[in-house]
Amino acid sequence: MIVGFLADIHEDIVHLDLALEVLAHRRCETIVCLGDIVGFTLPFYRHIRTRDAEACVSRIRNRCGAAVAGNHDLYAVRKVPEHKAGFEYGPDWYGLDYEVRAKKARNRIWLYEDNEIPARLSPASRGYLGGLRETERLTFDGLSCLVSHFCCPDFSGSSVFSPGHAFHLRKHFEFMDGLGVRIGFSGHGHPDGCLIVDEENITLHGFGTIPLADEKQWIVAPCVARTTRASGCMVLDTDKARLEVIPLKASPIDLA
Ligand SMILES: [Fe+2]
Ligand SMILES: [Fe+2]
Repeated sequence: MIVGFLADIHEDIVHLDLALEVLAHRRCETIVCLGDIVGFTLPFYRHIRTRDAEACVSRIRNRCGAAVAGNHDLYAVRKVPEHKAGFEYGPDWYGLDYEVRAKKARNRIWLYEDNEIPARLSPASRGYLGGLRETERLTFDGLSCLVSHFCCPDFSGSSVFSPGHAFHLRKHFEFMDGLGVRIGFSGHGHPDGCLIVDEENITLHGFGTIPLADEKQWIVAPCVARTTRASGCMVLDTDKARLEVIPLKASPIDLA
């Protein structure tokens, strides 16, 4: 089975359509969205004139077989994560003033108003984002996977902490064990290509074709959006047990 993966679109409809074309050309039978469909953050993104949150949500709804919530998707609908990674949000987090939240957050979780432009979304798109789960267990032709925007216990990527060593993924691998899967797919990291973590190493593979190992792996996809990082998408071929990490060709930077 041929499966496409898209991550971190961040309202970039031009690159999302380009990625969908690439995946159609590869004859993907289904597409999985790994979160952060919306969320435009200055000064990292390069598509301010063409950004279109509503069109991106609509495309993902229509074209993807599955999708999970990213931290920016949750923020767009002012929803606190289900998996809180130990942070006490309290009963009405978004009812609190920014200053109060900043003081409570103490740089442990992301706040967004300091550099994020509000997403323009219809009630239907807000409903869709609000209904996305933080994890999904999917099976493609007998190969079962965990998909989530980030890793256990912070599946939505709402915490500032980011794993720097393979042992930081221990809880994620334990969670995968509990589900009986050996491959996890995520986004959020915006790597220049594809990042693969096993129980020993973190390896940046860049773009190209990568054979899938038999051991447990957490695979982080590149971002679709034009940012300061390279953008791309991924195709999993379950028959050939390999992953193709495809760069999206450079498009003109449309700074306002
Ligand atoms: Fe992102
Ligand atoms: Fe994210």
